[in-house]
Amino acid sequence: MLFEFKHVIKKKPANGLKSSITDDLILRDINFAIADDLPQLILGPSGSGKTTLLRLCNRLSDPDEGEIYFKGENITNYDIIKLRTQVGYVAQIPVMLEGTVLDNFVYAARHAYKPKTEKQEFKNECAGLLQYLNVPERYLHQPAENLSVGEKQRVALARVLIRKPDVLLLDEPTSALDPTATARFLDILQKLQKEMNIKFIMVTHSIEQAERIGGNAIVLVDGKIIEQGPVSKIIHAPENEISKKFVKGSLDN
Ligand SMILES: Nc1ncnc2c1ncn2[C@@H]1O[C@H](COP(=O)(O)OP(=O)(O)OP(=O)(O)O)[C@@H](O)[C@H]1O
Ligand SMILES: [Mg+2]
Repeated sequence: MLFEFKHVIKKKPANGLKSSITDDLILRDINFAIADDLPQLILGPSGSGKTTLLRLCNRLSDPDEGEIYFKGENITNYDIIKLRTQVGYVAQIPVMLEGTVLDNFVYAARHAYKPKTEKQEFKNECAGLLQYLNVPERYLHQPAENLSVGEKQRVALARVLIRKPDVLLLDEPTSALDPTATARFLDILQKLQKEMNIKFIMVTHSIEQAERIGGNAIVLVDGKIIEQGPVSKIIHAPENEISKKFVKGSLDN
């Protein structure tokens, strides 16, 4: 198993306004396993806890109760830099660091597996990666902040790939992109899956994207897994009443 979640509970951070009416759990007793060889999708309505669950996978946050195992080992036993190198995170809205695209890559490398990375020597490797991702090489020397959102999203993906991850956590990576940029991004993901054997754990609202990526899915509602199984089964023959409505609602949109 790639990941295993055992009795994972995540509470809302205390804000001093604790109410006895609303409960304070974001994730309630999450138990599931992510296969080694298939993409894993996380589906569910807004506010159901998808981002919270995804961020637990490389310890951007930790559960309040329960355990998470990565490749059979409790994730708290991993060196956190090594864990985040193996398990990269691509956010919903790409955030660029100051400087050029190359500066962004150098920063990512130095803070992960290559602390002595020199910009000039590293340039060729970065250019090769951009070429592989169909991103024009001239971006390397442009201020990252000036790129369009679609361009930033591809650079953000490249910045994670520089660290040679095994697994990518993708949090609705196309939600800020137009249809052309979305199609381009999905093409890249499929290429990575096929050619580099990178595994995905992806949050998406889009049933169309879910079908295209395939693999397994969970449907998360109000912090609970209400259905899990192959994506095609969840989309075409959901069993749970709420997931039926969720899939139908997403299809109707
Ligand atoms: N730091 C926090 N403090 C308080 N509440 C939080 C915090 N983080 C998340 N929540 C709450 O937990 C719930 C789940 O949030 P989360 O961001 O995981 O949802 P989501 O399924 O990713 O939603 P969306 O589809 O809109 O991105 C929401 O009700 C949110 O308000
Ligand atoms: Mg979210």
